Amino acid sequence: MNASKYIWMDGELVPWDDAKVHVLTHALHYGSGAFEGIRAYATDTGPAIFRHREHMDRLVMSCKAYGIPLELDSDQLMKAAREVISANDLPGGYIRPLVFLGLGSIGLNPAGASTHVMMAAWEWGAYLGEDGVTNGIRVAVSSWRRIDSSSLIPSAKGTGGYLNSILAKSEAVRAGYDEAILLNRDGFVSEGSGENIFVVKDGVVATPPVSDGCLGGITRDAVIEILGDNGHELIERSVTRSELYYADEILLCGTAAEVTPVKEVDGRPVGTGRPGPITKQVQAIFSDAVRGKVPAYEHWLDRI
Ligand SMILES: Cc1ncc(COP(=O)(O)O)c(C=O)c1O
Repeated sequence: MNASKYIWMDGELVPWDDAKVHVLTHALHYGSGAFEGIRAYATDTGPAIFRHREHMDRLVMSCKAYGIPLELDSDQLMKAAREVISANDLPGGYIRPLVFLGLGSIGLNPAGASTHVMMAAWEWGAYLGEDGVTNGIRVAVSSWRRIDSSSLIPSAKGTGGYLNSILAKSEAVRAGYDEAILLNRDGFVSEGSGENIFVVKDGVVATPPVSDGCLGGITRDAVIEILGDNGHELIERSVTRSELYYADEILLCGTAAEVTPVKEVDGRPVGTGRPGPITKQVQAIFSDAVRGKVPAYEHWLDRI
């Protein structure tokens, strides 16, 4: 991680090394927090935050879903994110907002615990590696199932729920793969540990619906728009594990992963084993759009 200079904490910019919390912070014990992952990109006019309002709206919704009191609204959160990018002189980078419960209660009833908001930003490259972005990654179906709405809230980015992603990701990496694909409780494909999934067969693109337990990804939404604008047929429907084995193309997408082709699933090559034409087209358009080079998608950018 490339440390930057300042972190925004409860309304103030504090030096990176001084951004600390007490060990009895409620969220440290129980995962009682909500977070976002946002990217800013360098454009010809300076940094631009990609789909900024949607990310902050989702953060507000995640807090609401898990009952975490949050006084800030999306506008105030957006102001803080702009501040942290500017204060750190970042041309672009990754922004990590976190809302968490602090001191005041150490019981499971969090009433009385204070709410804190922090926002950090730093320079960050390709989450799944430059080679992965260019040539594709190797994935394995996880032995862990995706959290579901009978016990947690898969459509919210609650910190505690990410133990599920950590189990799946670390199992996959230990086995020599780049990423895990999680099935849902019913055995349908849900998503990667931190990415949504799209599968192409005979020119038709399918992606699991949010009701199959995946996060309603903001990049997923952008990919759906790009596919539609370029005349591709996209169906949101349940996807089976076996479809991954005979897909022509598979792509993963998310703020961290951006658009990354999958070249192998459970030891089986995807299509030719090289990124396919639809994946490459979506990847190229997405990459230009986030850098402010596609006027049609200018509304996705909050230029600072
Ligand atoms: C579990 C999970 N799925 C999908 C995504 C992709 O979502 P987005 O494109 O909004 O970053 C993320 C990242 O936030 C995630 O954590």
